[in-house]
Amino acid sequence: MLSFSIENTIFAIRKLSMIKREDIEKIFDACRIEEVVGDFVKLTKHGADYVGLCPFHNDRHPSMHVSPSKGIFKCFVCGEGGNAAQFVMKHEKYSYPEALRYLAKKYGINIQEEVRTAEQEEQYKEESALLSLHEFSKNFFVDKLFHHSEGQDIALTYFRNRGLTDPTIKKFQLGYATSEKDALAQDAIRHGYLQDTIAKSGLAFKKADGSFNDKFRERVMFPIHNYSGKVIAFGGRVMTTGKTENNAKYINSPETAIYHKSNSLYGLYFAKNAMSKADKCYLVEGYMDVISMHQLGIENVVASSGTALTSGQIKLIKKLTNNITVIYDGDTAGVKAAMRGISLILKEGMNVRLVLLPPDEDPDSFAMSHSLEQMQNYLSDNEVSFIEFKAKLLLKDAKNDPIKKANILSDIAEDVAMIDELLVRAEFITHCSNLLNIEESAFAYAVKKKRRQIQEAKRKEREQAAIEDNTILQTYDDEPIVKHPRELLSQPINVLENAEHELLKLLINKGDKLVYFDEKDDRGRQKSLRLDKFIINDLSKDNLTFSNDAYRALFNAYLEELNLHPKSICKHLQINENQQIRDLANSLNDLRPKESPGWKDKHAVINTIDNNEAKLLEEAIRILQLIRLEWVKKKRQACLEQMKLPENQNNEDLIIQFNHLNKLIYKIEKVLGTSYRAK
Ligand code: UTP
Ligand code: MN
Repeated sequence: MLSFSIENTIFAIRKLSMIKREDIEKIFDACRIEEVVGDFVKLTKHGADYVGLCPFHNDRHPSMHVSPSKGIFKCFVCGEGGNAAQFVMKHEKYSYPEALRYLAKKYGINIQEEVRTAEQEEQYKEESALLSLHEFSKNFFVDKLFHHSEGQDIALTYFRNRGLTDPTIKKFQLGYATSEKDALAQDAIRHGYLQDTIAKSGLAFKKADGSFNDKFRERVMFPIHNYSGKVIAFGGRVMTTGKTENNAKYINSPETAIYHKSNSLYGLYFAKNAMSKADKCYLVEGYMDVISMHQLGIENVVASSGTALTSGQIKLIKKLTNNITVIYDGDTAGVKAAMRGISLILKEGMNVRLVLLPPDEDPDSFAMSHSLEQMQNYLSDNEVSFIEFKAKLLLKDAKNDPIKKANILSDIAEDVAMIDELLVRAEFITHCSNLLNIEESAFAYAVKKKRRQIQEAKRKEREQAAIEDNTILQTYDDEPIVKHPRELLSQPINVLENAEHELLKLLINKGDKLVYFDEKDDRGRQKSLRLDKFIINDLSKDNLTFSNDAYRALFNAYLEELNLHPKSICKHLQINENQQIRDLANSLNDLRPKESPGWKDKHAVINTIDNNEAKLLEEAIRILQLIRLEWVKKKRQACLEQMKLPENQNNEDLIIQFNHLNKLIYKIEKVLGTSYRAK
């Protein structure tokens, strides 16, 4: 019946962290900075403080100070500093919630994550089950590698013959899937995993007769980890050299709720620390390339797993470093094909360099046949800027054809225009105009024109993306709204109060009735929710509450009763200890007679709200949303007026947010029509 579900997702202002404030306070109370830092850095006492080697730069003398009294760390050389959570965020590359969970675990604090919606709960369950099954499967494959006769005789020998040491095999949790038909599925079922989970993971296929076939058989196994080190997928390689048509060299897990190929990079978990420390990332093609370079001692390396890099993957890298060096196998044919993909990296504002390996080498073979020093030297000696490489390659092709040359000029100007740093861009302009043999000022002009076009396109794209995936709304989470300051409201106060009044009336009189959704549940029944829970969900999703003090008090009392006496809320509100709440509950209660008991026996109980009430409900919630958005907009406007810096990143974000807010406001106003203002 109600159909604001789609829009609900658009309007949902999600909470940044699902961890409760009280729990966060508990964590910080328990935390001792010297213990948290001390887990990663050797600290020595220095007066009231501690000192140690700073892990965030290449420190030779202890320059990081840790102050137990202030609860902070600070490096006097590189300037890094902050509290315990910031330390683990920085050191372990955790998000804020991840850091809090880490600290809670360290100090044995139970954290209660805030209630999820039914849908979030469902998704969370599926993801947890899949993660658990992948962890189980990884252990299963590792066990087979070391303890099953096939594993020991063939697979372990295969890895060792390829030059991998046992510590490397263990570090990357390599494994083996035996030739048995359903060994993994059987064992997983025996350990209590649901058939449904197994089927969803793609690690085995369920056949018509109900039995399973494992996906990976007679293959060495490469687990794929997510950013925080959990196994989310596998790649499996045949051990024979030649590949036949239906026996691909590598097969990989399918996309699942936990594995999105375009958003994961092989090796990232093992590379992330080295990447941010070296401020550089090597990009290679395959599993073995990553592993062999690691074993040699080059750890800042990830693989795109044989496909062109996606923008999702580039964003993952960009969190850690802006410098990416692509290592190509010796043949230049592949390089030309990969050019397009590289432009995507440039577009993200990263510095792209490129290294060509000698003919017939890939990073794996090169790493296996050279020392660390040799490989490091080769990489640094042969690294060229992508743009320069491309210009030279194209020029060689074009020879003296003037049309081709003009195209190259425009092509290269576009690449240079994507460089965000002014000084680097200027350097490239000088360099490339020399290469292309044209006036520097003419080339600079071409770049400038391209840059304007790119910025315009980027802006549009970001605006669009923000509307689609709601990311901008998430940034409003820093405005925990409890109450709307009245002087900031652009709507007359009575519009808001009317809406709040209607909402409370519905809550008091119809709270226990059901609201039906368009979706169906597992058993094909229409999904439903108690009206009061629906209202509470909707308001809390948008961080909304009542602005009128008396209404808010009643609402809060209602929430309490909902926990204590969900079946007789009104009765209990009418005997609330607070007179104001009692009176308000009474006055809102419409005293129409309830159905007589005899009536119930003959007819189905009317357990839902009617169309008119549904309309009132939607309107009231929309008005609350609208007024909240207008309030945020006012704040953004004030910010914008304060900052007059041109071409400033934050400034641009603000403008985009601002436009986005306007669009949302317009949308809600359209749903509401104009009639509500007149009330
Ligand atoms: P390569 O064919 O270059 O393999 O594929 P490789 O990394 O050198 O592997 P080895 O050294 O022969 O063991 C590069 C990457 O492309 C993906 C894999 O991720 C592989 O690591 N790939 C390749 C597949 O997914 N399927 C295939 O059939 C082949
Ligand atoms: Mn290889």
